Amino acid sequence: MVAALDIGTSKVAVIIAEAYAFGAAKVIGVGTGFHRGLHRGEITDAEAVAKAVMEAVIKAERMAEAAMPPAVVGIPGSFCSSFTARGSAAIKRPGHRIQAADVERALDAAAAAAIPPGRRIVDRLIHACLLDGERIKGSPVGLVGSRLEVDVQFITAPLSVLAELGKCLGQAGVQVDGVAVQCLATARMVLAPSQKELGVVLVDLGAGQTDIVVFRYGQLDTMACLPVGTDNLTRDLSAGLGISTEQAEQLVRELGCTVSLKSTAELSVEEDSPTKALLENMQVELQEYSDVFMARAEEIWQLVQSHIGREGSSGSLSAGVRLVGGGALVPGMAALGSELLGMPIDAALPEELESLPEACQSPAYAAAVALAEDRAKNLIELQAVSTRKSASLNVLWQKVRGWLKS
Ligand SMILES: Nc1ncnc2c1ncn2[C@@H]1O[C@H](COP(=O)(O)OP(=O)(O)OP(=O)(O)O)[C@@H](O)[C@H]1O
Ligand SMILES: [Mg+2]
Repeated sequence: MVAALDIGTSKVAVIIAEAYAFGAAKVIGVGTGFHRGLHRGEITDAEAVAKAVMEAVIKAERMAEAAMPPAVVGIPGSFCSSFTARGSAAIKRPGHRIQAADVERALDAAAAAAIPPGRRIVDRLIHACLLDGERIKGSPVGLVGSRLEVDVQFITAPLSVLAELGKCLGQAGVQVDGVAVQCLATARMVLAPSQKELGVVLVDLGAGQTDIVVFRYGQLDTMACLPVGTDNLTRDLSAGLGISTEQAEQLVRELGCTVSLKSTAELSVEEDSPTKALLENMQVELQEYSDVFMARAEEIWQLVQSHIGREGSSGSLSAGVRLVGGGALVPGMAALGSELLGMPIDAALPEELESLPEACQSPAYAAAVALAEDRAKNLIELQAVSTRKSASLNVLWQKVRGWLKS
């Protein structure tokens, strides 16, 4: 059994899943707790977050009919930075056939490079493997050579953030089994290798933050986290139209982008249109709503555009954009992005999610499900790595667990 926790700006999502020998995960429990204790990924009200975590855990455990195992916790990309290093391992044994343990040795050597002070490695992406100086495609395990080199990108997070997170989860009685970068876990689940080769963008449009991950030529090109999300739409509407935040949230969820809505003139002749009734109830003009909403929605997409760079500037992004997060459910948001970016935006549910329990069949749960799936794959990898020395991933998890406890 594996468990994952996604602490978002609007909600905490907990997933309990069964892990199978081939690395797949079957979700058996989902729980959500709502809170307002997070701002730009930082915990501002630990008690509120801890309460939401407890609520989500109880719901997930009830659905799974099992106690939650130690969980992997997602951290937002906003805290992460990365560095690239090369590590090598000499293969001296007779036959010189590469084993998984040799890859781990090379990875360990790369990780020994200077880690920025006050930060810890939380994730890694292998960019390239070289055998006797020759770049090889795919896994080197089973090939023959005397010197293995790996180019790795390490993702680091500040110790202070890990400690704060650990404290809050301790308050909620959650046992932590490691941390993972939310958007990278989501990218692993949602983006196919062929899309990464073609160039693809993952956008997680949440309530408070928008994560962007760009892959070009099969490799991670950009990881960014914008401090904007659907909450900005709600706040703008509330302040601009003089309505409550709850009313503004209802408009965002039900009307969304007015590019897909009828004009004021068309609406006024329709007697029983739900849109008309909703706006009339709040004494809001469609034009006013549209002006406020579109200004912010367009800004969000322009910010995304500025982070992914122009098409063709450094490799194309022909696989387009895959949109997850609750923002993918805002009507017309994907269509607007597609129009502004000039790229296809696929806001459909990732295939894996379609077989999930109804409670998490939503792009808003993509990060939580991805974290659980990632954990299941790591567990299987750990079991496959036999020698103690080669289990550096295990060591990584244990270290992270230690930092969270301290
Ligand atoms: N069914 C829905 N229809 C329309 N919009 C929705 C729906 N469900 C969620 N949303 C929008 O998505 C937002 C929540 O998105 P999400 O759950 O991805 O955010 P989060 O993970 O809590 O926050 P973040 O990732 O920014 O820290 C809501 O505030 C709402 O605006
Ligand atoms: Mg989120």
